[in-house]
Amino acid sequence: MQQILETLITSAWLAAWDKGDFTALDGLLAAGYTRSSKATGATVDIAGLKAEIAAVRVAFPDLRTTVDDIVEGSETVAVFWTSTGTHTHEYLGVPATGLTVQTRGSNILILKDGKITKETVTWDGSELLASLGIRPLRGIAAPEIGDRAVPELDADLMKAFNRQFITGVTVVTTKEGETPKGLAANSYCSVSIEPPLVLVCVQKTSSTYPALFSSSHLGINILGTGQRDTVGVFASKAPDKFAELEWHEGPNGSPLLDGSAASLEAEIQERFQAKTHTVFICRVRHAEIDNTAPMVYKAGRFYDGGNLAEL
Ligand SMILES: Cc1cc2nc3c(=O)[nH]c(=O)nc-3n(C[C@H](O)[C@H](O)[C@H](O)COP(=O)(O)O)c2cc1C
Repeated sequence: MQQILETLITSAWLAAWDKGDFTALDGLLAAGYTRSSKATGATVDIAGLKAEIAAVRVAFPDLRTTVDDIVEGSETVAVFWTSTGTHTHEYLGVPATGLTVQTRGSNILILKDGKITKETVTWDGSELLASLGIRPLRGIAAPEIGDRAVPELDADLMKAFNRQFITGVTVVTTKEGETPKGLAANSYCSVSIEPPLVLVCVQKTSSTYPALFSSSHLGINILGTGQRDTVGVFASKAPDKFAELEWHEGPNGSPLLDGSAASLEAEIQERFQAKTHTVFICRVRHAEIDNTAPMVYKAGRFYDGGNLAEL
């Protein structure tokens, strides 16, 4: 995307949300523009968008927004934003609390002829409500459900539970322009066979995340026993994790690592917000299976999946 469009989106966004000035926004939105929310399922048109912005601005009159990142996909642009404001009037049914709160979201814009035709908002409203004292918020006083205090589960207990769970190791991949990107992930899970759905959870602070979020497809490689070094590379922040690797592209361009026990390419269908992570639900479009035994992961260690003792 040209830098100029990026600048236009940022300035229109800030003018609309922070000043209530829709002039620049009007120039950017196509006539049939729609905005749909993943959280509520609601879809609105241009007038609906303006009404939403106006409602937020009434509730948080000192709203300040930053556009943290803009990432170009093949036909899409992903906008990552953060807004801060003081809750001065009722919002989402919550009376004014006087609290200054911050919320983050990410929107996918579909552009045609330089105008936004469709916008999908992935915004975790529960995070905002939590800041307003409506939902449990980690690290704050014990949250209440009815009259019963519900303390947060101890993090060490949660980790100990996870250490009892054995998984494989995958490398989740995508491309940022022509550059292959990827990270090690053991959060892979098969959701269903028919339709062939899988999921993977990716931390929003991952450097692969912006490219992944704005991609239409991703690759998932189940690592084999010969790829012990590969785990280290993809669990790191190395700038070019593919430099020493042989890899090829899936039908839609996702990087698939040679030597993997199995690789798939899938189309991203949902991007659910789960606080620090995004759950990507994907429909598998292509799969390759190798005879190599898979790597096994348990409690921070890696094992040979070809030498398991059957019970
Ligand atoms: C065995 C293993 C499993 C991991 N699973 C995940 C995961 O499921 N999701 C995730 O976001 N990070 C996971 N990580 C951590 C990332 O690989 C790590 O944060 C990496 O540095 C991210 O790279 P990036 O910031 O360049 O994308 C895992 C790491 C290891 C070693």
